[in-house]
Amino acid sequence: MSVDVIVGVQWGDEGKGRVVDFYARDYDVVARFGGGDNAGHSLVVRGETIALRLVPSGILQPHAELFIGGGCVVNPRTLIDEFALIGKHGVDPQRVSLSDRAHVVLPAHVEADLRREAERGTQALGTTGRGIGPAYADRASRVGITMRRFCDEAESPEAKLLAPHVVDGVAYVHERLERGARILAEGAQGTMLDVVYGTYPFVTSSSTIAGGACTGLGVGPKAIGRVIGVAKAYCTRVGAGPFPSELENRDGEHLRKQGREFGTVTGRPRRCGWFDAVAARYAVRVNGVDAVALTKLDVLSGIERIGVVTAYASDGRVETHYFDGWEEDVRGVRRIVDLPRSAGTYVQALQRLLGVPVELVCVGPERDQLAQ
Ligand code: GDP
Ligand code: IMO
Ligand code: MG
Repeated sequence: MSVDVIVGVQWGDEGKGRVVDFYARDYDVVARFGGGDNAGHSLVVRGETIALRLVPSGILQPHAELFIGGGCVVNPRTLIDEFALIGKHGVDPQRVSLSDRAHVVLPAHVEADLRREAERGTQALGTTGRGIGPAYADRASRVGITMRRFCDEAESPEAKLLAPHVVDGVAYVHERLERGARILAEGAQGTMLDVVYGTYPFVTSSSTIAGGACTGLGVGPKAIGRVIGVAKAYCTRVGAGPFPSELENRDGEHLRKQGREFGTVTGRPRRCGWFDAVAARYAVRVNGVDAVALTKLDVLSGIERIGVVTAYASDGRVETHYFDGWEEDVRGVRRIVDLPRSAGTYVQALQRLLGVPVELVCVGPERDQLAQ
């Protein structure tokens, strides 16, 4: 069992990128298995943010190979720009391989995405406008263009630049597994945005859950070992759709401000709310989560009473359980047991509500701002 999976258990932007960066120390390959450049995974190194859309978040671990799996949809322009970006940070783009079975996002997909959103008017989904839905729709309709075909047939300069990175994705993964390599599968988006198990139709168009790692990388379920669920210590959502624990008050404003909750890809303000234990428990189920990495605990410092949604009532309202807040700055804490008492109680309560251990607590965006 050499493929471990990291997935978001909320509505995306849980901090998967920085959590993957941390775990990647122990893996030979970090692989994206789904989604496209609708994802924005940020790493913060000494105050500087690197926002990745397609390249896996293992770039800062020099030993790690980087793989974009067949379950992904790839905008060639974005990937080429990203090669330049990581190059500037001293990361060799040669480390990136691309499955021949990934599909290409074409300019026509982007146009169709924007047009459909405009046509929906007030009913718009709030997509990232990257052509993701139309590209997956073409794949399902059997009229899409695979990376293999794009590179074999197209004369475009983009195809020439990407061709050296395109590999037989199944052979790539399995040759490494046979050699005993360990693969870390990096999820994009979050469980509640999964095309089947999310808040349909306010979802993305791919399988974002742990099972998606099997189809997205071409491995059997028995290859999967651990599943780590990434959860923010509160909730956010970009775009339209149900958000039961949403706060449209001072506490929501605090979370948006302190947590800098503005989209990595679109810059849109993220909707903010309390931790939703109902949704997170559901996510633990559909992913088979073994342990949770809790992020952004530092953002809660200074809130007097911190809510957690523990049940949905049939009339659309929610039940919220309140916990004592804490004033202390927790960014310097490196061991979970050293958290201020109320913060420790909060983490333990989430652990109990989810039924799985919280094994990592992130207390700031920098790579070393985490507690175990
Ligand atoms: P992803 O899409 O799941 O990888 O998450 P994003 O990178 O889109 O959004 C997470 C944001 O929170 C980024 O700006 C991170 O730098 C930041 N972040 C991650 N972990 C922490 C944390 O523990 N504390 C704070 N304050 N910021 C964090
Ligand atoms: P990461 O990987 C947060 C949301 C969009 C919209 C819906 C559909 O950074 O967590 P799409 O463009 O995929 O058709 O949009 O899904 N969405 C995300 N929200 N984080 C993401 O990725 C997202 N990717 C898509 O805002 O509501
Ligand atoms: Mg993101």
